[in-house]
Amino acid sequence: MYFEHKVIVVTGASAGIGADAAILFAKQSAKVVLVGRNEGALINVAKKCEEAKGLKPLIVKAELTNDNDVRNIVTKTIENFGHIDVLVNNAGVGIKGGICDGVDLYDRAMATNVRAIYLLTSLATPYLVQSKGNIVNVSSIAAFKPIRDIEFLPYCISKAALDQFTRCVALELGREGVRVNSVSPGCTKTSFLESAGYTKEQAEELYKYRDTCIPLRKVAKSKEVADLILYLASDRASSITGAIFVIDNGENLM
Ligand SMILES: NC(=O)c1ccc[n+]([C@@H]2O[C@H](COP(=O)([O-])OP(=O)(O)OC[C@H]3O[C@@H](n4cnc5c(N)ncnc54)[C@H](OP(=O)(O)O)[C@@H]3O)[C@@H](O)[C@H]2O)c1
Repeated sequence: MYFEHKVIVVTGASAGIGADAAILFAKQSAKVVLVGRNEGALINVAKKCEEAKGLKPLIVKAELTNDNDVRNIVTKTIENFGHIDVLVNNAGVGIKGGICDGVDLYDRAMATNVRAIYLLTSLATPYLVQSKGNIVNVSSIAAFKPIRDIEFLPYCISKAALDQFTRCVALELGREGVRVNSVSPGCTKTSFLESAGYTKEQAEELYKYRDTCIPLRKVAKSKEVADLILYLASDRASSITGAIFVIDNGENLM
C-alpha cells in the first residue's frame, strides 16, 4: 500500500486511532495533514511521521465545531500541498447520557461527530473529485445497537447518522470516481473513554470486563483500526464504496 505523493488529511490525529493512522500513512510515504486541538500532542505525532520517511507533515490546529477552523483545514492543505487525495474523518467524541439528560448532549454529539464531518467533506469534495480520491469515516458499532451497560444515547445516534452519511455520499460521489467508506470499531484501547468523562480506573474496568465477555476475549488496538483505514484508503480497495467495515472482536454479535 503505497501512498507516495498522496495528500492525506486525518482529523483527530493527535491521539488514538487518528495518530496511529497518520503514522502508518507517513510510513507509506504519504504527505499527512494532522488535525486536532492539542498542539503538543500533534507536534509529537508529527515528529513520528517525519521520522518515517523524512516528509514533514502539516499541522492544522482546529476545533471542529468551529466552522472557520474547518474551512482553514482545507485552505491550509491546498496552500501547502496543492491537492487532497484522502480525507479521514476520524475525530469524534463520546457523549454519555440518556433521554432525560437534556438535548444539549445531542447538540454536542452531533456538532463534532456529524456536522463537522458534513462541512469538512463538502469543502474537500471538489479536490477529491479532481484527484479521484476517497474518504474514510470512523464510525462505531454503537451505530448498530445501543452500547451495553452504559447510557450513550447522543453518541449512538450521531454514529448512526454518520453511517447514513457514508452511504448517501458514496452514492452521490460514485459517478465522480470518489469512494466513501466507513470503519466501525468496537471497544478499542485509546483515551476515548476518558475523553467521554470516565476515570482511568473506570475505563480499565470496562476494558477488563470486555476482555472476558467479547467473543474474541480482547479489545482492539488502535493500530489495528488504523490498518483497516489504510486498506480502505488504498488502491487495493478500488472496488469498495459505501461499505461499513466492522472491527470489533465479535462484540456486535453479543
Ligand atoms: N476507542 C473506542 O473504543 C472507539 C470505538 C468506536 C469508535 N471510536 C471512534 O474512533 C474515533 C477516534 O477515537 P479514539 O478512540 O482514537 O479516541 P481519542 O483517543 O479520544 O481521540 C479522539 C481524537 O478526536 C479529536 N477530537 C475530538 N473532538 C474534537 C473537536 N471538537 N475538534 C477537533 N478534534 C477533536 C481529539 O483531538 P484533541 O485530543 O487534540 O482534542 C483526538 O485527536 C472517534 O470517531 C470515535 O468515535 C472509538
